[in-house]
Amino acid sequence: MNNEKKYNEFELKDKAANYGGGEDKLQKQRESGKMTARERIDTLLDKGTFCEFDKFVTHRCTNFGMDKTKIAGDGVISGYGHIDGRLVYVYAYDFTVYGGSLSAANAAKIVKVQQMALKNGAPVIALNDSGGARIQEGVESLTGYANIFYQNTMASGVIPQISAILGPCAGGACYSPALTDFIFMVKEKSHMFVTGPDVVKTVTHEEVTKEELGGAMTHSSKSGVSHFLSNNEEELLMGIRELLSFLPSNNMEDAPKEACTDDINREDESLMSLIPDDPNMPYDIKELIESVVDNHYFYEVQPHFAKNIVVGFARLGGKSVGIVANQPNYVAGVLDIDASDKAARFIRFCDCFNIPLITLEDVPGFLPGTVQEHNGIIRHGAKIVYAYAEATVPKITLITRKAYGGAYIVMSSKQTGADVNLSYPTAEIAVMGAEGAVNILYRNADAETKQKAIEDYKENFANPYRVAELGYIDEIILPRQTRFKLIQALEMTKNKSVTNPPKKHGNIPL
Ligand code: HXC
Repeated sequence: MNNEKKYNEFELKDKAANYGGGEDKLQKQRESGKMTARERIDTLLDKGTFCEFDKFVTHRCTNFGMDKTKIAGDGVISGYGHIDGRLVYVYAYDFTVYGGSLSAANAAKIVKVQQMALKNGAPVIALNDSGGARIQEGVESLTGYANIFYQNTMASGVIPQISAILGPCAGGACYSPALTDFIFMVKEKSHMFVTGPDVVKTVTHEEVTKEELGGAMTHSSKSGVSHFLSNNEEELLMGIRELLSFLPSNNMEDAPKEACTDDINREDESLMSLIPDDPNMPYDIKELIESVVDNHYFYEVQPHFAKNIVVGFARLGGKSVGIVANQPNYVAGVLDIDASDKAARFIRFCDCFNIPLITLEDVPGFLPGTVQEHNGIIRHGAKIVYAYAEATVPKITLITRKAYGGAYIVMSSKQTGADVNLSYPTAEIAVMGAEGAVNILYRNADAETKQKAIEDYKENFANPYRVAELGYIDEIILPRQTRFKLIQALEMTKNKSVTNPPKKHGNIPL
């Protein structure tokens, strides 16, 4: 065969490999309202930057007549490309090839990408749409998952790992996404469960739809497994691009800085009336966040889960920051099990990737009661203090109103390692609120004595001055100055260098 024929042969093979399970199956995929794997990659990456690896890999299974049906690529499309000009690695399950099921061969393709990403310090994005372990391959397929999980774990904290769930994700297949940093799901199209509705019915006699069991809303609002909920695939893929804009490519890089187009001295007079005069009235902490961050843009993480705490990314003076804020608008911003898990995981992510932490505190305490105690609020609540204490990134705390009891301590107090502690004049910092304290200290007193004691307590404790006298609050500021004061503190701490004692790893209460 002369070279020209060889080139033609290659071009034919290369083209054929673009069609996965065939035109019919690709069409079926589109008709079911889903993009094909290649369309997803093209939409995600900067135009024309995708470089594919292992396009001609096929499976090596001979069971069930599989040796007669080999498809180039074997149901996973993998390689690298750019997002906003920055290198990323990507792999996408192709549902048109054996339902995107995992084989030994395509697992090796995934592992190759994971290892390259780790070696070259760039994020990995997984686009999942798969029927799980390839049944015909048995344990070979299971081993493939194990290899992927191992790489996920090795890469954790070194490079950002992002998972999109764009179709089914069943059984052990859920655990690779669960080991990554962020999970995106799309309404009605994505489902994640360890066992599907049929098995659930057999084992527990529960009747449940797959949407209710493991749909996007379930995992975004109830289980907290998912971090971002999208209306459609395009929105989801744009969301991944957006998220990456806040993150460094690896743990050795600083958080990215963008040119700041918003005046760093900008004051907001409306903040002076944000905190209600009545300490029992709620307000929306997102109004404060959106007022102070660059261009009022806040990229919230897990907006539907544990709404009593708000976490997400923003920029201050062009620099990426992670924001953790109690939400007085939702069950008074009380800390419970889910809020503790949500906050601690986010804090640790930011610390892994050198993203400074801004904490906005207005919290009445931990939620009391048997449900919380029996489910381990002690263990879960401890995660927040652990995460803050071990974090070595710049940590800036602003107390807007209530900072009571253990919640005061855990929400990035001075003694757990915060660098700058600010408060508004409206701050109330004490062991507990006035009524609760007086009911303990003056249990048998008459109503008049109790009322006087409450007023004395408020005078003495329901303000930031006691704490400021001790130096645990560095500065009391007016709400209108918040933006400048946070940026000033960030600038002051930008070269912070702290290392924790050497250890293999800590033992966070899980
Ligand atoms: C091989 C599979 C497959 C699998 C689907 N297919 N799942 N082939 N192994 N796991 C094939 C089908 O035979 C079919 O082939 C094609 O993919 C499309 O599947 P359909 O069933 O026609 O599609 P749909 O109706 O959309 O249903 C999709 C589905 C369903 C919900 C994913 O296929 C399904 O329930 N699959 C099995 C899911 C599962 O239980 N996986 C194992 C999980 S346990 P043809 O040739 O007809 O087009 C697991 C263990 C891992 O993963 C443990 C790791 C620790």
